[in-house]
Amino acid sequence: MSDLLHIEVSPQGDHSISRAISKEFLEAFNERNPGAVVVTRDLATDSIPHLDGQTIFAGFTPEAERSETMQAKHEFRLQLMNEVNDAKHILISTPMWNFSVPSVLKAWIDQMIISGATKVSGKVTIIISQGGSYAEGAPRAGWDWETGYLRQVFTSQGASDVEIILSEFGLAGIVPALARFIDQKNASIAAAKEAAKARAAA
Ligand SMILES: Cc1cc2nc3c(=O)[nH]c(=O)nc-3n(C[C@H](O)[C@H](O)[C@H](O)COP(=O)(O)O)c2cc1C
Repeated sequence: MSDLLHIEVSPQGDHSISRAISKEFLEAFNERNPGAVVVTRDLATDSIPHLDGQTIFAGFTPEAERSETMQAKHEFRLQLMNEVNDAKHILISTPMWNFSVPSVLKAWIDQMIISGATKVSGKVTIIISQGGSYAEGAPRAGWDWETGYLRQVFTSQGASDVEIILSEFGLAGIVPALARFIDQKNASIAAAKEAAKARAAA
């Protein structure tokens, strides 16, 4: 059993907004829960293989008939699933890429969901950093296929307490066309950090 399963995604290291927000969460969480058991998977440095045929068919093949490779892939998938099932709280920290989740996160999702066996019983906190905004009234309102998708992933596996912490306009100050949104970017990041601290201390 872990107190926290922490999934980190952005490859942008110290430049990452989602990592800066999750750092605030982790500091508050560790302060609130001294000695907490935290399992971390950093998908930027330790990527998850895509679900392949051998891994899928391992679930339908008696153990004695599985090749060594098939068995190893199966065990890794079960390990990912067990980390999810055994977590009291799951923290996902990710950017938006091309209107959805980066493929490394999708690979983790495809591996850890095993129909009927994955059961999320604890809290889930999802930190998302977007380059722009998809809020109502924005030119690209309705283009966000990440927020609702990630919520669905976890509620479909049993989670009843899912909080999404969103920061917008991450590309302001980087993409010239978004320069006028720099204040909104800073305010959005600051609000997301506060929300992350509050969630971790709850
Ligand atoms: C490959 C790639 C695709 C991106 N696609 C989108 C996108 O579809 N929508 C968006 O708002 N921002 C997009 N961005 C911008 C990132 O979401 C934004 O910079 C965010 O702050 C990145 O999070 P991070 O700083 O934690 O890495 C993209 C960035 C990259 C590198």
